Amino acid sequence: MHTGRVSELDENPRDPRGLRPDAPLLDAWLTSTERAEAGRLTPMITPGHKQRRDLVGSVVAGDAPLYGGLDTISRADALRADGEARAARLWGADWCRFAVAGSTHGNQALALAIGSPGQEVIVTRILHRSLLLGLVLAGLRPVWVRPEMDPASGLPAAVPVDTVRAALAAHPAACAVFLGDPSYVGTIGDLAGHAAVAHDAGVPLVVDAAWAAHLGFHPDLPPHAIAAGADAMVTSAHKALPAWTQGALVLARTERLDAARLERAFDATHTTSPAGSIMASIDAARALLSRDGKDLCGRLLRGVTAAKLRLQQVPGLGVLDGPGVDPTKLVVLLAGTGAHGMAIEADLIAAGMPVELADRDTVIPVVTIADDEDQVAAFTETLVAAVERHRGAPRHPAAAAAWTVVPETVLAPREAFFAQNETVPAEAAVGRVSAELIAPYPPGVPVLAPGELITSSALNALREVHADGGRIAYAADPTLATLQVISG
Ligand SMILES: Cc1ncc(COP(=O)(O)O)c(C=O)c1O
Repeated sequence: MHTGRVSELDENPRDPRGLRPDAPLLDAWLTSTERAEAGRLTPMITPGHKQRRDLVGSVVAGDAPLYGGLDTISRADALRADGEARAARLWGADWCRFAVAGSTHGNQALALAIGSPGQEVIVTRILHRSLLLGLVLAGLRPVWVRPEMDPASGLPAAVPVDTVRAALAAHPAACAVFLGDPSYVGTIGDLAGHAAVAHDAGVPLVVDAAWAAHLGFHPDLPPHAIAAGADAMVTSAHKALPAWTQGALVLARTERLDAARLERAFDATHTTSPAGSIMASIDAARALLSRDGKDLCGRLLRGVTAAKLRLQQVPGLGVLDGPGVDPTKLVVLLAGTGAHGMAIEADLIAAGMPVELADRDTVIPVVTIADDEDQVAAFTETLVAAVERHRGAPRHPAAAAAWTVVPETVLAPREAFFAQNETVPAEAAVGRVSAELIAPYPPGVPVLAPGELITSSALNALREVHADGGRIAYAADPTLATLQVISG
């Protein structure tokens, strides 16, 4: 296994680990960009930058479309299918597509691949907003299930299998079960149990595993969703794997899902001009995972385990840990130190170490197979120093609104999305039905969704996030002075 950084691997810096022979899209991208760099291309085809660097500069370096870039327009589908089939084999799936619009597109494709408008689906309420909009697109009616909460951390655990079983029994016409596993904070449920109850009820289990492209590739990691029995999963190659931003995989078994419908659903909302560079990076990440995944996940596990041990020695500091948590996830619990997560985040940004999530009580850095142990250790020490600088009175953690929201659904998301709406002052919005989706981001879980009753507790929770400097995403008025409600 190679352990050095790319810059140290001078032999072939464009493919330092020699992935090319097992990665057809990577191979095609390398060929195409080599020709472009050698000035041997006069492309009379998109993209409009024509591989020139004298117009907008290097911002377009490495860009190559799938169609007409990685191969001719007529041959590129076969190339794509080769790369996708290799990914399907690696994950033990029958069907795979590479998405260039993230797990967002994957979730929406899977929502469109299942059921028909008006049908019910069993869905976790701590779903990512992309899946909620998938329900809008597909016209599916959610039957919400909720995870258990961990009172010590204020963070969500998994959705219990019994909860899903009960929901399926109460809604026998439901056409699928949609779960997010691992959750945003890395908590993991009994996916084999969920698959069993879904299959007993004759419906597929679909899993948003956006953060979990590494799962299943080391004996100390839980299996991935397909291996656990799920019928489909979406995962972001750009989150856990070293792929270009936006790269994601949608994987499915075709016993309960129809391959042609999956194709149609996937293509319905995918660009007709997918970036070959993104797709080649998904292919390369797959080849890397296939060959070196165990070693790289081993390094990741060592780095995160050491970080957790170090952080737990700091008075008041905690980490989310235990059998129900992805062991590569580092979720730092600050409440016992009194330090405010936003202050810690500011110090980390100043140190050149921006993190994925920071709220009052929690800091979540994304640690991946790209991080070596020294890097994780250096980050850990910088974090500890920031905590020491910002210590205060210990407090109990507050469960964020995203994890605790118990909505009262008045209208199905699709009906609400298309209903007439009006903008009213926030106070007047309480008791009305929301026309908009509002989510603190991260984690992107809607605290208010179209069709849900606006309660003062939801509004106050959103205001607290705003007051703390958090991002209120997708609201027409992110200051929350006004809200959009269904008219009438
Ligand atoms: C649980 C979950 N699902 C889906 C997504 C969407 O992923 P992407 O950014 O790849 O579109 C995210 C994004 O953070 C997420 O957290």
